[in-house]
Amino acid sequence: MDEQKLLETAQAVLKQNDRGKWTVPSGNLYPHQWLWDSCFISIGLRNLDLDRAKIELLSLKRGQWRNGMLPAIIFSKTEQGKEIDSFTWRSSLSPFAPDGVDTTGITQPPMLAEAVVRIGQSLKSTERRSWYSQMYPTLLSFHEWLYRDRDPREEGLIVLIHPYESGLDDSPPWVSELHRQGLPLWVRFVNKLHINWLIHRVRTDTSHVPWDQRMPNDEAMAYWAALLKLRQHAYNSEAILSRPMFAVQDLAFNSILIRANTQLRLISKTIGTSLPRTLEANMDKTEKVLEELWDEASGQYYSRSFVSQKLIEEASISTLLPLYSGSISKERAKQLVLLLKNPKLYATDWPIPSAPLSSTHFAPFRYWQGPSWININWLIIDGLKRYGFDSEAEVLKKKTLELVEKSGIYEYFNPLTGEPAGTPNFSWTAALTVDLLKS
Ligand code: GLC
Repeated sequence: MDEQKLLETAQAVLKQNDRGKWTVPSGNLYPHQWLWDSCFISIGLRNLDLDRAKIELLSLKRGQWRNGMLPAIIFSKTEQGKEIDSFTWRSSLSPFAPDGVDTTGITQPPMLAEAVVRIGQSLKSTERRSWYSQMYPTLLSFHEWLYRDRDPREEGLIVLIHPYESGLDDSPPWVSELHRQGLPLWVRFVNKLHINWLIHRVRTDTSHVPWDQRMPNDEAMAYWAALLKLRQHAYNSEAILSRPMFAVQDLAFNSILIRANTQLRLISKTIGTSLPRTLEANMDKTEKVLEELWDEASGQYYSRSFVSQKLIEEASISTLLPLYSGSISKERAKQLVLLLKNPKLYATDWPIPSAPLSSTHFAPFRYWQGPSWININWLIIDGLKRYGFDSEAEVLKKKTLELVEKSGIYEYFNPLTGEPAGTPNFSWTAALTVDLLKS
């Protein structure tokens, strides 16, 4: 492998998508700042330019809501497409939205504490303390908001109110939740009209990426309808959760949160403060109750519906993310590694598929229902190392880099053939390639 060449290609993508204070995930398809994208991007950037990596995360502050929420997207003012996206969300309907900045009214996986610490690790101790102090208030109010607004029954698990919050938009558990409750009437009506060609013209994503690599029209419309419902309630979690359309205790999100909580503890200790007691208690609870998402019969973790309080028994890549949380037992970690190594499930030629081969949803090119994604590989590699599965981590890292070298800096990849899919020049693929090369 020509590591130097790969590094240079990845660096060039990051440069191309750099908008000064933040990096867009891709110039055409995603022309704004995304929350967990910026976290992954800064993790890569810290290897190239520490100051720029910090700026990437500092830029997230401008979007933070007065109640602490960090929005999934901060809309750019100048980029093409801004009007339609920010107009759809109309975040200013909420009294908590920041002044003068348009954002979504929902969040995304809490990768921020991890990104802050990764940058911190590359700094000298005085600088590290000052960096942590700069980011601490943002992190503290975000984590407090998560528990205050999104854990109404005080169960220790955060409830997501839209599939986009999971970051794994059309992952099998979310899509099955959607079909369980039925598509909205108007979506069924539009479906009957057989006007897919027309809808594809209106959808901005399918004008950049082949339609069979994105969500089908009926699901995309249903997600849009769910968004409008949230907007009707001005993104007020209490009102939304009293009669929710989507409400899921998402496995991937909560696994990432556990790791983020660990990193937040480290940050507060380093700067010599202590976290509020209630937050500490909530954080402990999350670690304990994650185990409630384990299903002994099928030997895997699932997300849980907040409405029915039942596990959503749909296998997906999320089942492996408790490895990243670091809070599960070594025994459980071993069970997950067996799933990872099973050629009938996740051990494809170009791992890790976002849905196992055995899933009825599996489609090798379709978004989060089969393709391999580099951010997920990065999270699992990190989790494997934490549990001492060093050789498995090394194999996965090597495969991941080979995949990107062979197919390019794409958004996702066919897990069977390694063919590229989604948008080219995708920032987190570039950034995490850099990070894997340097680690
Ligand atoms: C897609 C992904 C989401 C990501 C966004 C921007 O919507 O599903 O996880 O944050 O693109 O890259």
